[in-house]
Amino acid sequence: MSPRKIIIDTDPGQDDAVAILLALGSPEELDLLGITCVAGNVPLERTSINARITCEAAGRSDIPVFAGRSAPLARALVTAEHVHGKTGLDGPELIPPQMPLQDQNGVDFIINTLRREAPGSVTLCPLGPLSNIADALQRAPDIAERIQEIVLMGGAYFEVGNITPAAEFNIYVDPEAADIVLKSGVKITMMPLDVTHKALATRPRIEAIRALNSRVGTFTAEMLDFFERFDVEKYGSEGGPLHDPCVIAYLIRPDLFSGRKVNVEIETKSELTLGMTVADWWGVTDRSPNAMFMGDLDADGFFALITERLARL
Ligand code: BDR
Ligand code: CA
Repeated sequence: MSPRKIIIDTDPGQDDAVAILLALGSPEELDLLGITCVAGNVPLERTSINARITCEAAGRSDIPVFAGRSAPLARALVTAEHVHGKTGLDGPELIPPQMPLQDQNGVDFIINTLRREAPGSVTLCPLGPLSNIADALQRAPDIAERIQEIVLMGGAYFEVGNITPAAEFNIYVDPEAADIVLKSGVKITMMPLDVTHKALATRPRIEAIRALNSRVGTFTAEMLDFFERFDVEKYGSEGGPLHDPCVIAYLIRPDLFSGRKVNVEIETKSELTLGMTVADWWGVTDRSPNAMFMGDLDADGFFALITERLARL
């Protein structure tokens, strides 16, 4: 089978960077057409630097990287330096990237790629706020039926929020964008905190990556050394959750994940619960299911996959 064509839409972020590396280490399954950056964990200028640093760490300066939106559709940007550090990619020594940013805007790249490629052959992988994806859907409604699937990291139900008591960061930053995406009619798979909080980069798992003894292994282990700090302090967990790599791992090994196809609506009005993903997990409404909402994963299998694929870089 030919590899699945994907676009990664991202706001790196250490966990975003691991997701990019996992995709780059999996060319048999995934054909990464390009990376579109969005403002999120840190401002756009920085996320588009971090995406290129990540590609260069893997020796893949041939991957086209685009800058997309610098702000959410209708709100001021909220960032997460308190989680990811000042650069968004704190941990390893960061060498300024040599590879250029593409001239084309990231939103235009998404639209043009979907119009150029065969219908139903490109999967979008959003790992940050959904601003670029919603902008593309609004500006070019014809692309909706051409998208194979959107597999995204965002939301939470049983785990409630991480940026507010009710909302997960990616959805909270641009709830209007998330609402557009969830109502688009496109096939959607969501990786909420319910599953990503089980993907913990524990000490032995980080050490297995460091023991690869390669540029990518060291780069990743140093990112994860830094990244665990926030969640270990906050939740008392055994490591930082590798949220975004769940998206890429699902495309390679869907058998590692389980969930339910349910209705998911986004709260866009309430000040108290803004950005909450109201998932009808128990089927108590007659609202139509619009997303596969994941709930569990085989964490050992997930980390074995990551370690094996990073070893290929
Ligand atoms: C999400 O927010 C970001 O901080 C992470 O990169 C991830 O995409 C988790 O809530
Ligand atoms: Ca992210």
